[in-house]
Amino acid sequence: MACNTSISLKEKQEYLKKGKQITQATFKELSGNLMQQMKLGGPSQAVPFCNLQALPIANQISKKFDVTIKRTSNKLRNPKNSPNKREAEIIKQYQILLEKDKELLPIVEVGSDNMKHYYAPIKLNTKCLACHGELRKKLSVKTDSLIKSLYPNDMAINYKKGDFRGIWSIEFKN
Ligand code: HEC
Repeated sequence: MACNTSISLKEKQEYLKKGKQITQATFKELSGNLMQQMKLGGPSQAVPFCNLQALPIANQISKKFDVTIKRTSNKLRNPKNSPNKREAEIIKQYQILLEKDKELLPIVEVGSDNMKHYYAPIKLNTKCLACHGELRKKLSVKTDSLIKSLYPNDMAINYKKGDFRGIWSIEFKN
């Protein structure tokens, strides 16, 4: 039987800190690269870049920190980012909190796999809206068709600034 499904407060704080560092580093790397591409060639350059580089960049940082970094959502763009069962439950929990106007805080827990996991909400800022915003307002028809050509089942549009977009999910190897 799994015994260490609980975690001490001290350990929890340690992993909350690590999780935050890792998600910040990943966000910085992803959005830094993305904004550079946006400056160079707008969405028509940044979308294909994201298509090719988002997962490799996350994998590279995963290796560096010896973790698995994932971004997932209830409204997916890339089906490769689909939530597992626990991630879907966490997303649901955050949605319930949002409905109640409660703050969304990061979560550290030991999973059924006996590994430590970190989850945290992802919200959109204005810079995200060029590719995830309201169609014909922030998101142009041109960019949307480009996105749909790469992701025919894209659901990740029509968001507004500050909206809940999904979660970070980090699995620690130790
Ligand atoms: C230049 C267009 C562009 C911008 C700007 C952009 N994204 Fe994305 N986003 C994409 C693409 C393309 C993907 C699919 C990446 C992949 O193939 O893994 C994606 C995927 C995601 C995912 C993974 C889940 C999924 O649906 O596949 C999250 C979370 C996400 N974006 C959040 C954001 C946030 C937050 C911002 C702003 C800080 C942002 N995006 C800005 C194009 C963009």
